[in-house]
Amino acid sequence: MVVGVGIDIVEVDRIRKALQREKFARRVLTELEELYCTGSNGLSAQKVAGRWAAKEAVIKAVGIPFRMQDIEILNDPLGVPVVTIHDNMYDRKRLKIFVSITHERGHAAAVAVVERSIMQVPLG
Ligand SMILES: CC(C)(COP(=O)(O)OP(=O)(O)OC[C@H]1O[C@@H](n2cnc3c(N)ncnc32)[C@H](O)[C@@H]1OP(=O)(O)O)[C@@H](O)C(=O)NCCC(=O)NCCS
Repeated sequence: MVVGVGIDIVEVDRIRKALQREKFARRVLTELEELYCTGSNGLSAQKVAGRWAAKEAVIKAVGIPFRMQDIEILNDPLGVPVVTIHDNMYDRKRLKIFVSITHERGHAAAVAVVERSIMQVPLG
């Protein structure tokens, strides 16, 4: 059952400027995400903007103000972004989060959907 949805859009330039501050990437990205967002020219502002939008969308969808670093979004072998929440307040056994990310030149956007598994009530 879907129990939450969130959406966010961000200007890539805003993230590019923020990345000039040394601590910004550390505050927003996990080590593995930083690796994923790093290309031959260093950190890609567009990729980081996609992560930023996805994390904001996750916070809206779940309704808990997680720290950015506690939301980890990595891509599976097909490229599909997969969300892991590193926070004990989050019920990872029953809640699953799906995100979709897009970036086009100046903007990145993402949507997140939270699904809760329906508890099986034993009969009899
Ligand atoms: C996946 C695909 C649709 C992305 O579209 P695009 O217009 O090139 O790029 P967008 O900016 O809209 O989206 C990029 C984001 O899509 C996501 N993505 C990549 N592959 C994906 C996939 N197979 N399924 C879902 N999302 C995917 C990623 O999150 C990526 O952003 P990130 O690398 O920063 O995490 C495109 O690469 C494609 O057509 N790939 C081949 C076919 C395919 O695998 N399709 C999957 C759906 S059937």
